[in-house]
Amino acid sequence: MNGSIALALVLAVLAWVFVVGDLLRRHRPAWHWYLTGYPATTCRVLFTWRKVALLNDLSVSRRPPRGLLGDLVVKGDPLRPVAPRISFPRATRLGLTVMVRLHAGQTPATYLKAADAFVHAWKVHAVRVTSPERGLVLLTATATDPLLRPGLATAPAALLSALVGVLESGGAWVMDLRLIPHWLIAGATRSGKSTLLARLITQLAPQPVALIGIDCKGGMELGLFTSRLSVLATCRREAVAILGALVVDMQDRMNACRSAGARSIWELPDSLRPVPVVVIVDEIAELYLSDGRRESKAEAEQCSVLLLRLAQLGAALGLHLVVAGQRVGSDLGPGVTALRAQLGGRICHRVNDPGTAEMTLGDLNKDAVAVAQSITATERGVAVCTGPDGGWSRARSHLTTTEEAIAAAQRHSALAPEMSAIRRALAALEGDDK
Ligand SMILES: Nc1ncnc2c1ncn2[C@@H]1O[C@H](COP(=O)(O)OP(=O)(O)O)[C@@H](O)[C@H]1O
Ligand SMILES: [Mg+2]
Repeated sequence: MNGSIALALVLAVLAWVFVVGDLLRRHRPAWHWYLTGYPATTCRVLFTWRKVALLNDLSVSRRPPRGLLGDLVVKGDPLRPVAPRISFPRATRLGLTVMVRLHAGQTPATYLKAADAFVHAWKVHAVRVTSPERGLVLLTATATDPLLRPGLATAPAALLSALVGVLESGGAWVMDLRLIPHWLIAGATRSGKSTLLARLITQLAPQPVALIGIDCKGGMELGLFTSRLSVLATCRREAVAILGALVVDMQDRMNACRSAGARSIWELPDSLRPVPVVVIVDEIAELYLSDGRRESKAEAEQCSVLLLRLAQLGAALGLHLVVAGQRVGSDLGPGVTALRAQLGGRICHRVNDPGTAEMTLGDLNKDAVAVAQSITATERGVAVCTGPDGGWSRARSHLTTTEEAIAAAQRHSALAPEMSAIRRALAALEGDDK
């Protein structure tokens, strides 16, 4: 009798532990990590360290690989190689960190190569290798992919800055156009480019900025925001007219700065400062490709020249470009490479060909290219983005639904500045058609 009561009690306790554990895992993943994942992973790190170090050539032997046996010199594998010393793993909210003291003469590069081996041995999602000071390597392990179910990060709202998603570190992914004036967003079809643009626009909508859309796929994506956009081009002819008018506006801004002795519009007094303009281009290829006809070629060339001028001179004058496209290579036309060089902020979603990742991130960082190439088709909205300090990170945009996008545009439609010169340029086009 007593035995069955005890058994029932044990079962009840087990069931309780199981249910609470599952609740924790789902609702408090960080607590779940501290209570179960961290101790288990720590054991794995400590118990596998010697073996992993040995297999990945991180251990060195204190003894020379040649020895004397009587009068003979014998060669062989060194006995008892010594693994580098590590600190006790420290828990973080998303994983753990281990500090390694390098053997004399070792470089962090050997550890970079062994990163995959650590991932495998510790059963974690990823291990990043950094070197905080000479002779030390910091291994930062993340337990699970934080971008699978990204939480909502927060960031202070600042003019021309948009909170677009979360970084792999759990921090806020912010596109700050005051810091980096122009951006390039690359990615294959359905990788999340337009969703990111939608998020950017909903974030900029409540701010005192003019938004100009260029969406030459008939305005299907940016058309949602018509009520908040100051103008929208839906074909290349309209784009040329708008960009031309913007370049004229840029001259006016330059003159205003020069006569006030200012080096940028931000140095002008509030009463004189023109409104900042963000030009958002969805699918850049539509602007550059020509069907061989003379006028089509001329239009493409005009687009190329105008965009390049805006990118080169616009930053200080409050004219910003955010350009999205599947490919950004010279096959689109000679002007693309020059334009790309001006777009300092880079975001690379999943891409179809290695070349595009290389073109988007390669001039900044080789590791970033490799990480961008490993983004799979199911990871929609995941991208590698550059940060303000020259660093890079994996990140995921916040999903903005069509309804949210339309609602945000309508709520803030009164804030859309009137860009009358540009509207006139567009109206003149229609006049020509009649
Ligand atoms: N951050 C995200 N989180 C979840 N799903 C996303 C995210 N970004 C995009 N998606 C999904 O991917 C689909 C395609 O995205 P879209 O932005 O239209 O890609 P693209 O413009 O690159 O062709 C969207 O319909 C959306 O459902
Ligand atoms: Mg799209």
